[in-house]
Amino acid sequence: MRTRIENLQGMALVQDEAHEHAYLRGADMDSAFVLNNAFIEMEAGKIKEFGTMSDLASSLKTPGTRIIDGRDRWILPAFIDSHTHLVYAKERSGEFDLRMRGATYAEIAAQGGGILHSAAALEHMSEDRLLEGLLDRLAQARTTGTAAVEIKSGYGLTVEAECKMLRVIQRAKAATRQPLFATFLGAHAVPSRHHGNKDAYMQEVITEMLPRVAQEGLADFVDIFCEEGYFAPHHLLALANASMQLGLPLKAHVNQFTSTGGLQAAIQAKALSVDHLEVLTKEDIQDLQQAWTHGKGPMPVALPGCSLFLDIPYTPGRALIDAGLPLAIASDCNPGSAPSTNLMLCWSLACHQMKLTPMEGLVGLTLNNAAALNASDRMGSIAIGKEAHLILTKPIQGLASLPYHFGENLIERTFVFGQ
Ligand code: NIG
Ligand code: FE
Repeated sequence: MRTRIENLQGMALVQDEAHEHAYLRGADMDSAFVLNNAFIEMEAGKIKEFGTMSDLASSLKTPGTRIIDGRDRWILPAFIDSHTHLVYAKERSGEFDLRMRGATYAEIAAQGGGILHSAAALEHMSEDRLLEGLLDRLAQARTTGTAAVEIKSGYGLTVEAECKMLRVIQRAKAATRQPLFATFLGAHAVPSRHHGNKDAYMQEVITEMLPRVAQEGLADFVDIFCEEGYFAPHHLLALANASMQLGLPLKAHVNQFTSTGGLQAAIQAKALSVDHLEVLTKEDIQDLQQAWTHGKGPMPVALPGCSLFLDIPYTPGRALIDAGLPLAIASDCNPGSAPSTNLMLCWSLACHQMKLTPMEGLVGLTLNNAAALNASDRMGSIAIGKEAHLILTKPIQGLASLPYHFGENLIERTFVFGQ
């Protein structure tokens, strides 16, 4: 059945044939196309038609259409979360308590907390229970406007437990309508059985885990945590080389706490996205700019929820966009550094802390996240034929009202495949 939402006050990030982009960068991020006094039609899970109400009056109205009144409301592409760690066994609120008493993320990790703590908790949890937790978090994310979600492994750190996490994501794909993407993040931390020997563990990731993950078709992407105390740029290059041969694009956690060449290695490896980027030198920004001079480079992905939660710098989003680069904004939702799926809040943080305009924030949360998942042909904007993942707002004054009311949720419904 066809559904039409009519009398909309506005509709943002509209693309017709003349304005079809896989991502927006630089000044174009603020000029994403808006239609006022608009309608949109969805059928069979796709966007079928849209335009202004005057276009609708003159066109043939399909009989049997379900009509929703969109008066005073906006339609936006639903958010896409291109970076999450949503499969986990237990929250780590005890570590939060310690941090609020002065301990740092690095100190807690060095004492066996952090990622290794999450891995220990996950080892003995059944797939069924992990799936239950994941589906709850996905449903929660949808209430604040998120449709498609990327989910990483990385709390397994053994072949068996990494595959278990990825199987849970595959099972979730069948259990929810929300489009999901799975990323193999075996290179997340060095498990204690390797006694700090990063090279030995990387060898295991590359020669044992990755081939099995690829053979069983468990992942769409591969990722690595490139950071002091975790993995080095040369590990990233080795992993990229192996994953490329298996046809799996690389994403990379780089420059979260230090700028030590992770970004440059990811650029060299032609990574699909470079995520975090809280700590960027002038040279780092120039290198990213250079990577984007001749077409598409790695999509920069900022994770403002992590900056808020760990009290670390925010990715210099304004500087990146002013340098002509694109920017995506994701939640990083995970139990250690960003325990929230709320992309509405990330939108406010992007404005206040990264100095983005509301429109730039919206592009970062939608189209540019689609590009970070190689999925712009399917989602991320309002275009005929794209999947109908849409946000219908409550009555609002204008687009800026959404990030303006920080911590509030002015979303009435999130449509996934038109439902
Ligand atoms: O993206 N930086 C590495 N990984 C996660 C944190 C993982 C954790 O603390 O459990 C992140 O912030
Ligand atoms: Fe992360």
